[in-house]
Amino acid sequence: MSEFDPTILHEAAIPPPEEFSSRARVSSITEYDALHRYALEKPEEFWGEQGQLIEWITPPEKTLEWKLPHAQWYVGGKLNVSYNCVDRHIAKHGNKPALLWEAEDGTAIEFTYCELRDLVCRFANAMKDLGVKKGDVVAIYMPMIPELPIAMLACARIGAVHSVVFGGFSAPALADRIHDAKCKLLITADGGYRRGRVIPLKESADEALKSCPTVKHMVVVKRTGEPVAWQQGRDLWWNELVDQFPETCEPEVLDAEHPLFILYTSGTTGKPKGVLHTSAGYLVQCTWSMQNVFDLRDDDIFWCTADIGWVTGHSYIVYGPLSNGASVVMYEGAPDHPKRDRFWRIADRYNVTIFYSSATAVRAFMAWGKQWLEGHDISKIRLLGTVGEPINPAAWKWYYEVIGRKQCPIVDTWWQTETGSILISPLPGATPTKPGSACLPLPGIAARVVNMQGEPVKPGETGYLVIEKPWPSMLRTIYGDDERFRRDYWSRIPGAYFTGDAAQCDKDGYFWVLGRVDDVIKVAGHRLSTMEIESALVSHPSVAEAAVVARPDEIKGEAIVAFVTLRAGQNPTPELKNHLSDHVSKIIGTIARPAEVRFADLLPKTRSGKIMRRLLRELAQKGGISGDTTTLEDIGAIERLAQQKGQEE
Ligand code: PRX
Repeated sequence: MSEFDPTILHEAAIPPPEEFSSRARVSSITEYDALHRYALEKPEEFWGEQGQLIEWITPPEKTLEWKLPHAQWYVGGKLNVSYNCVDRHIAKHGNKPALLWEAEDGTAIEFTYCELRDLVCRFANAMKDLGVKKGDVVAIYMPMIPELPIAMLACARIGAVHSVVFGGFSAPALADRIHDAKCKLLITADGGYRRGRVIPLKESADEALKSCPTVKHMVVVKRTGEPVAWQQGRDLWWNELVDQFPETCEPEVLDAEHPLFILYTSGTTGKPKGVLHTSAGYLVQCTWSMQNVFDLRDDDIFWCTADIGWVTGHSYIVYGPLSNGASVVMYEGAPDHPKRDRFWRIADRYNVTIFYSSATAVRAFMAWGKQWLEGHDISKIRLLGTVGEPINPAAWKWYYEVIGRKQCPIVDTWWQTETGSILISPLPGATPTKPGSACLPLPGIAARVVNMQGEPVKPGETGYLVIEKPWPSMLRTIYGDDERFRRDYWSRIPGAYFTGDAAQCDKDGYFWVLGRVDDVIKVAGHRLSTMEIESALVSHPSVAEAAVVARPDEIKGEAIVAFVTLRAGQNPTPELKNHLSDHVSKIIGTIARPAEVRFADLLPKTRSGKIMRRLLRELAQKGGISGDTTTLEDIGAIERLAQQKGQEE
């Protein structure tokens, strides 16, 4: 923003390689600055122009209708997202690979844009035949197989709203999400592969549907061929179904603000929130950011290693790349299967040019060592990206030197499920980068670090990261809970969108995102609510009370520590600790499994009965307490916890 002076950088930064800049879409920091200023002064003109990146059936009459906290973008416009991501590329690029899919066992299948259109249309027709109508919500619970993006695009084609639930979630977590959105159809697979093991998705789906009467049908992709239970009349095999339908399906004409998808994410309470995204604004900004943050060209091979079950996969495996007619690599399995060189093997095999991964993955690669690169030619990679959590400068440098050979810019992209697309990031041909900083807000994004009153804090001081103006791919509401939408995002800081992140802005106007200020934690980039894990723990008959905090973890960023008080008569054994961790995996999924369970006689509470997480956090992180304990009800509780830890060690 105005703090930024492109002519001076106070601190050392790494300039983009000249060769990269000379060919880039935005090729200098002055160019960035001009674009950013223009977009801030005239946001509607700027975003109106970007609206031309997509194809409209009826062009919009007005770019923005803003009545805080509700935005409507591209008012009056009509479009179809699946048409934009598939059909519109066919004339020029019909035989270009859209998806380059690699199975965990190494099998490779390529889908051209023509093939993708046929498959999307067949499945769209099948859903229509099953009674799915415009506005109905369809749950998708799948492994990383091609049918997943096909199902999403088929929903978009007929105006159904997809709700993808990450395949690592367990049956109760799936049931909660299906229930909340009153889904009509569930699409899943008999199972998925992870490190050669079969993950029995259909079994979890069956379990979930016991409590989901709104779901009338379950479509099942045969992936593993393992035997599964079958409910006649409800369950249908994907293959048998799609074969019955033609490969053409007129895309539905949809309003710019027609809901495209719901994606559940964790917030401060135990109940996950259904973040609702709509069609045009989301697509425009995904298309724009894909082009500019990744400096996308026609001949790029783009690989985003995220799972489509998270927003990164939605925006940068499916909608962003496909809307641009790009070729996308999609990999089914784990990065260390069968060996730790798997990612470099894939990058070599498909000639990947842009590699977008998580900070956790980079730290894991660094821990595994550079010998895993031997024998794999990854020299085609020209740009690296990272997302999901702060990346520490040491990991950044390793990424830059070892994977990027000091020739590839790194885009550290800050954004959220709620923001829909990247909001703060370097532009790779323009922005000098500082290891560990997401750098500058993208053009059109009014980001700022403020105090609780909404006043900007001084450079180098910590404050809250807010976005002061609406942007096209912003969430429109929390599905079924507009009040929570208002409360969580629009009432903390006057007039601005509250991100929930703490950040600093340095003298150069560069943003340094420090982490969450709420009860959300990030384990290996996965967003989890401490309250959700606590509810899972107290649902166990041995547990009286639980408090969950995070401690730093060298690879995963954060790890879960659970403090548990047992019910009278329960024995605090190591077996019970394990058993409680298993219980959390069963209720939420293995991603939420505590790294450590610690028993306590009492949890430290304030006199009004609030658990003092700050103290527990300190205890989990440092092993002792030095902070202020004057409001503590029972000082003995925390002392006993600290001592107990000492004895265990
Ligand atoms: O805390 C920030 C962190 O991830 C949160 C959003 O998580 P989620 O909705 O799961 O979306 C992740 C993928 C877009 C943010 O509030 N975060 C995301 N990217 C970065 C980051 N923290 C620091 N640097 C980033 N680049």
